[in-house]
Amino acid sequence: MIRFESEQPVAVNVATIEELLSEIRNDKMGGWYDLPKKIDSAEVEKIKSAAEKIQLDSEYLVCVGIGGSYLGHKAVIDALGGSGETKVFYAGNSLSARELKKVFDEIGDADFSVNIISKSGTTTEPAIAFRFLKEKLKQKYDDKASERIYVTTDAARGALYGEATQEKYTRFVIPDNIGGRYSVLTPVGLLPIAAAGIDIDRLIAGAFIEHREIKEKHVSDLAAVKYACSRAKLLKDGFDVEVLASFEPSMNTFEEWWKQLFGESEGKQNQGIFPAATVYTTDLHSLGQYLQEGRRNIFETMLSFAKPPEVDFEIPELKQDLDQLNYLAGKKLSFVNEQARLATIEAHRAGGIPVFEVIAPDYSVESLGALIYFFELACALSAKLAGVNPFDQPGVEAYKTAMFHLLGKAGF
Ligand code: PA5
Repeated sequence: MIRFESEQPVAVNVATIEELLSEIRNDKMGGWYDLPKKIDSAEVEKIKSAAEKIQLDSEYLVCVGIGGSYLGHKAVIDALGGSGETKVFYAGNSLSARELKKVFDEIGDADFSVNIISKSGTTTEPAIAFRFLKEKLKQKYDDKASERIYVTTDAARGALYGEATQEKYTRFVIPDNIGGRYSVLTPVGLLPIAAAGIDIDRLIAGAFIEHREIKEKHVSDLAAVKYACSRAKLLKDGFDVEVLASFEPSMNTFEEWWKQLFGESEGKQNQGIFPAATVYTTDLHSLGQYLQEGRRNIFETMLSFAKPPEVDFEIPELKQDLDQLNYLAGKKLSFVNEQARLATIEAHRAGGIPVFEVIAPDYSVESLGALIYFFELACALSAKLAGVNPFDQPGVEAYKTAMFHLLGKAGF
């Protein structure tokens, strides 16, 4: 379903890749690997009915989480927009008072619910935001506040689990064998996406089709394998920065999710490709200059859709061609955007930037499901090829320890 193209195809060492794929699948954190074909339908129904309730009683759903606990679902919601019944808003992904105030200002007196998402159940940013939001819920709904709190956390551990059990909040479980950044297709992502009015069956179906390719294709023909091996080759050749680029600004949060996925999975033991992102054509008028003529350590992965998004405009013909654009009259805006994409690939390649293409069939929820699975697989494999653990993030602890020390938390 997802296609991968590059100017110079790399050789795939089939035996090594098969071994690494098997290691990933059998890893204690490899639960996401077969998830598209194993999703529990009873869990999906529970998610859908919670989402229906939220849509009926809440103008806003505030999703509280950070890192892998919010980027995946925000990526899908920002890319597709929701049905509009319930607007999904975010808190707890920073410690900024200004950002929290924005959430309160937006909600105003409207009805709202809260979905707190944290696997560990102890992360500071979401925990603090949740405390404020709980207070607001209590002020507004009194003893009915708990009916508007949805907790997505570990099955049996953590402060949040303890609180949710004691307060009898509606609970969703993040499986033990799936880490934050690989969790979009668990309740972490599915509940907010469903509450936004996006069809989660179609999202899962897209991931399922991508997962099926593993069985149906030879390992060297798998797009995710080709992408991972091509990245590894470029890193060896000194290209240690990757820019994910899209010509659809609504894919910006998806790029943020990708940055987190690859950054936390690969960047350890002084290794890894630094993941960056651009939105075109906007950034062609800023970072475009650096890309074209700056240091030659950057490669680009162009994320695109074979069929353009359905929304389109035809450029009108004007009697007086004062802006000299009549040469484009009758052309669709998507056509112009596509020519800009092709021109950028041509210019960047000519400027010495290796450009990969990752192509999804169309701008649909299925394609997003497929892209999520594609990048998860490629990322885990890339980390394995670099000899690092794709599923831990020991470096994230360093700032937490220093912060807890400054804040005076007991034991730090
Ligand atoms: O991908 C990851 O594992 C991390 O980004 C976590 O999702 C993030 O640190 C939040 O952790 P938690 O869900 O435990 O609050």
